[in-house]
Amino acid sequence: MTKSFGSHTVLEGISFDVPRGATSAIMGPSGTGKSVLLKNIIGLLRPDRGEIWVDGEETVRMREKDLYRIRRKFGVLFQDGALFGSMNIYDNIAFPLREHTRRSEGEIRRITLEKAAMVGLLDHLKKFPGEVSGGMKKRAGFARALVMEPELIFFDEPDSGLDPVRVSYLDELVKKIQEETGATFIIITHNIPSVMRVADHVGVLYRSGLVRFASKDEMLLDDNPIIRQFLAGRANGPIGMDELATEESDVERDLVARSVRRAEERKAQRELERDRDVLQV
Ligand SMILES: Nc1ncnc2c1ncn2[C@@H]1O[C@H](COP(=O)(O)OP(=O)(O)OP(=O)(O)O)[C@@H](O)[C@H]1O
Ligand SMILES: [Mg+2]
Repeated sequence: MTKSFGSHTVLEGISFDVPRGATSAIMGPSGTGKSVLLKNIIGLLRPDRGEIWVDGEETVRMREKDLYRIRRKFGVLFQDGALFGSMNIYDNIAFPLREHTRRSEGEIRRITLEKAAMVGLLDHLKKFPGEVSGGMKKRAGFARALVMEPELIFFDEPDSGLDPVRVSYLDELVKKIQEETGATFIIITHNIPSVMRVADHVGVLYRSGLVRFASKDEMLLDDNPIIRQFLAGRANGPIGMDELATEESDVERDLVARSVRRAEERKAQRELERDRDVLQV
């Protein structure tokens, strides 16, 4: 797909397939069009050219009515959280059920409490968004994204504005809920440790193009300098500092080095297994 705003082409000729029931991460410097890509996929924006297929249905040329049906497969946690400030956490989480279903208040209560429990918010349901921490707002947004039992869940930078401890807590939560629900997760993030912890597949966007979308192991072993620089969070490389929102840190370097080693070990193991198979033949 291709998407421009006036003469500014934000995404050009982007093409990739998202594996079902796994977690995919989309990375890329700030302003490369990650949020725009997400909005095109969920139908809030329409591409100028190209196709988007959701579960075997092409959505770009779809009528509003059908698009509405497709959108119900999606749960979205937007970059800014997008909670309603005038509603308490309970009503925020329950909102999609009241808006899009005819469920009774009793059923809505059961589902809302179940999702609130999943994200650890049962004790805070009467508070308003202005009275809770950033991490709690993220978790409330997460619970709200879950109430419709979506098949696809999108997170636009779930880690922004959180400290590293809360980020790793949120990662654990994402992993646990992905395993529990079996849903397909698509996470937009700059956070390299998060990608190492939760992603099965990784896509890297750079200057309006998709450099590559592949399994995390394949990406870690790729020698393309942009992919290497992005996954290592290094300041030196083709991506300038102004484009790179990630700061280099020893912890990140360690984590990446370890992940690369593990990917290499797994590759060697696979080759060993292949050799063994050949010998058995
Ligand atoms: N509705 C719009 N109208 C015009 N330009 C837009 C619109 N939405 C986004 N853009 C432009 O598209 C480009 C990509 O924006 P986008 O928000 O997708 O970046 P991003 O990769 O999500 O960045 P970040 O990591 O900072 O969130 C930016 O140059 C932005 O100004
Ligand atoms: Mg964005």
